[in-house]
Amino acid sequence: MDALAIGPATRVLVLTGAGVSAESGVPTFRGAGGLWEGHPIEQVASPQGFQRDPTLVWRFYSLRRAAMAGIVPNPAHRALVALEQRLGDRFLLVTQNVDGLHRDAGSERMIEIHGNLMTSRCTTCDRPPFRDTTAYADGTLPLCVLCSERGVTALLRPHIVWFGEWLDPDHLARVEAFIGAGGHDLLFIAIGTSGLVYPAAGFVEDVRYRGGRTVLVNAERPENARAFDAVHLGPAGELLPALLGCGQ
Ligand code: OAD
Repeated sequence: MDALAIGPATRVLVLTGAGVSAESGVPTFRGAGGLWEGHPIEQVASPQGFQRDPTLVWRFYSLRRAAMAGIVPNPAHRALVALEQRLGDRFLLVTQNVDGLHRDAGSERMIEIHGNLMTSRCTTCDRPPFRDTTAYADGTLPLCVLCSERGVTALLRPHIVWFGEWLDPDHLARVEAFIGAGGHDLLFIAIGTSGLVYPAAGFVEDVRYRGGRTVLVNAERPENARAFDAVHLGPAGELLPALLGCGQ
């Protein structure tokens, strides 16, 4: 397979989804055996679901935290690190994944637009989100210690963007700025994502509008495959190192 043409002026925007972590052993969301099969979205990934049953929601994310033990990045994550090292500021990675594997692999110019599994935040006070690897599997609900010190009982929640919630506007502004930063040699690569969740699913159209090239690497042909100039079907861990010319 020929490597993608990436020249000295090419700027590369990468969007990853759950498929990029599949070969590391992290389940995807949709399809047979996907996370949303056994856990209805509205119950565990919406503000209303959390309000209704925070114990259920914390059990879901606690199980996912615990399941990350021993999970490590795969050749797809590593190929993206190698590309970033080659391109520097001409590279930006946007991930919908909350598993932190891109950071573990060494990616730096990276935005986690859907949050991070190992981060919690208070539902009440404005303390910044903080690292929290605890799996609250025994049904106890975690409280904010800073609020408790002030005599206020406030629940913690996972630092995840749930359905019906807004993405961080700074994140979106950074992506828009990268796409619109001028120069005609823009390449967009979407990897392991079903292209069903917006606004990430709309990046491909934004790049096309700017005249950029669009490439999809996915295990199967998703509904939005026609939006891409080229589609490479197969496991990301096998295809990406070859496509990015960093044969691992
Ligand atoms: P999905 O589960 O919707 O899609 C994963 C895609 O990866 C599918 O199209 C698979 O065919 C593909 N895939 C599976 N294994 C692969 C492999 N080894 N190599 C390449 N591709 C592979 O996951 P996302 O598109 O990431 O949001 O889902 C988007 C968002 O919906 C998630 O961030 C999550 C979810 O609800 C939140 O939780 C907020």
